[in-house]
Amino acid sequence: MVNIAVLVSGRGSNLQSIIDNIEKGYLKARIAVVISDVGSAYALERARNHSIETIFVDPKKFSSRESYEEEVVKVLKDHDVQLVLLAGYMRIIGKTLLLKYKNQILNIHPALLPAFPGLHAQKQAFDHGVKVAGCTVHFVDDKLDGGPIILQRCVEVKENDTAESLANRILEQEHKIYPEAVKLVIENRLRIEGRKVKIIN
Ligand code: GAR
Repeated sequence: MVNIAVLVSGRGSNLQSIIDNIEKGYLKARIAVVISDVGSAYALERARNHSIETIFVDPKKFSSRESYEEEVVKVLKDHDVQLVLLAGYMRIIGKTLLLKYKNQILNIHPALLPAFPGLHAQKQAFDHGVKVAGCTVHFVDDKLDGGPIILQRCVEVKENDTAESLANRILEQEHKIYPEAVKLVIENRLRIEGRKVKIIN
C-alpha cells in the first residue's frame, strides 16, 4: 500500500476528494500524514475528522526555505511516505524537497497550464476572456506550476459566468482528475519522457 502525504494551506476540498476516494476503495493507498504550513487551515480539521495524523510545520520557526523543507522531509521520512500531493499548498517547492522526492510530488492547478500559472488562476483566465478554462494535474519540478502534465480537464466558460462561478465548476473537475491522476501513479502506469507523460494501459 502506497503511503501518501498531502500538503495543504487552506480549505482542503482536494484533500477531501482524495480521502473520499480512498475510503470508497477507488485509490489503494493510505494518507500517512497531512502537513500544513498554516495552523488554522480547515484542511487539518478535515483530516482529523477521518483520524488522519496532521502536522503543522510553522514556517516562522525556520530561517530559510531549505531548513523548512528539511523539517518537512523529516516528517515525510518518519511516515515512510512514497508520494506527496500538493493540494492547495501555497508554497514554492525548493531543491531540498524536489531532490528527495524526484517525480514523486504532484500538484493540482486550477488552469489549463502552461496558461495562467501562479495565484488566482481562475480569475486570471476569466479576466483574460478565455472561452475554455480548466485544471491540470502535473508532476512538480523547479518551475512554478511547470512540471510534466499528467491530466487536464476543460471547463467551458458560460456567458453569465463570474470568476467565482467558473472557479466552482473548475473545482468540481479538480475533485475528479486529482484522484484519477493519483490512481495512475499508484498503479505505476505513467512514464515521464522529457516534458511528456505517457499513460500505459
Ligand atoms: C484549488 O483550486 C487548487 O487547484 C489551487 O488552490 C485551491 C485549493 O483548494 N491550487 C493552486 O492554485 C496551486 N497553484 P482546496 O484547499 O479546497 O483543495
